[in-house]
Amino acid sequence: MEHNAQQAQKEDIMAQNTQHSKASSSRRSFLRKGVAVAGAGTIGAALLAGGVPAFAKERSDGLTSGDVAILRFLAAIEILETDLWRQYNELGGIQDSEVPGGSGSAKYTAALQVLDGDMPQYIHDNTEDEISHFTFINAYLASKGANPVNLDQFRTLPSSKATGAQQIGRLTNLMQLTVDTSWWTRYRSRTKNPDFGDTFAQAIPGLSTGQFPAIPRHDGDLAPKDHIQAIANTAGFHFGFIEQGGTSLYPSLAQGVTNLEVLRILLSIGPTETAHFQTWHDKAGNAPALTDPTNGLVFPDLNAAPFGGEDFQTNLIMPEPTVFLSRTFPAVSIIRPTQIAGSGGAVGTVKAWTADGLFIGQSREFLAVLNQLAEAADAARRG
Ligand SMILES: [Fe+2]
Repeated sequence: MEHNAQQAQKEDIMAQNTQHSKASSSRRSFLRKGVAVAGAGTIGAALLAGGVPAFAKERSDGLTSGDVAILRFLAAIEILETDLWRQYNELGGIQDSEVPGGSGSAKYTAALQVLDGDMPQYIHDNTEDEISHFTFINAYLASKGANPVNLDQFRTLPSSKATGAQQIGRLTNLMQLTVDTSWWTRYRSRTKNPDFGDTFAQAIPGLSTGQFPAIPRHDGDLAPKDHIQAIANTAGFHFGFIEQGGTSLYPSLAQGVTNLEVLRILLSIGPTETAHFQTWHDKAGNAPALTDPTNGLVFPDLNAAPFGGEDFQTNLIMPEPTVFLSRTFPAVSIIRPTQIAGSGGAVGTVKAWTADGLFIGQSREFLAVLNQLAEAADAARRG
């Protein structure tokens, strides 16, 4: 189905190129570059061309070019989320007709279940939700005469070699992560907000430097016990990192939406990312304190000194009231950040995911396509 969408997209782009002779010089230059590298490059250029505002305005019934740009970026993000969640599900979730692929890794699954006995179910359900998000957004875009997003040409990264994983090309890399765990303290602070430029301490300082796998890379990663547990713990904090990103992204982008139905889409999907985040926030706190004997990665006891207290205590999983809009207002429990085009916006999300290591091994063209989609989404303004 995705392949057909891609073919349709290519044909549509060819038609646009004939119809719209006033395309910008930068677009033309990119198209030429894309054609010059041939094959994958051509499709990459097509993806970018689909985001051209003039086209969207002319073709997309009732939607502004900004609305289309926002939906296209969200479709891309949901495709990427689906790709990474599928990798988790193949090894540590439930493989069934709703989320097919893979056959599970018993030792990795058991380590995840130390965080919660229901982890495989939650991983499965988060994966299914992401599949439904990109499928819906792409179908909606198509229904409005706008181009759906297809990233299949970039499925070039290797799969885990661990027993249980499918051997197929991936969009994201879960085996060299540098996980920013400052979302943990950000949601516990009563006085700080990233929209004011505030910064936050890491819950797991070791994870924020170096590169660590969040899935077993091969069966050799299944032992010793504290090593596979460290991999599961890394996954536990990575789940929270990914879903807090979606939690900020939707309200940030919603402020640039013009069409009421598109706003309804963002306001209806966004909070499901928050539901995921809330779940993962709770589970990450159950990651056992340990030191990985193979690489020295430390998961501290977050309830003991020098951690502990309001910034780290593991059962404080609901968003602490904090400063919002102006420091003169009373503190309020909110999603943070949400500033339009801010650190939780589209470009901010791509930057954060790049720093996370998710795109290690990806082509420059992939990053160019993703950044172009992000910049267009952040540029959208309510009209
Ligand atoms: Fe999603």
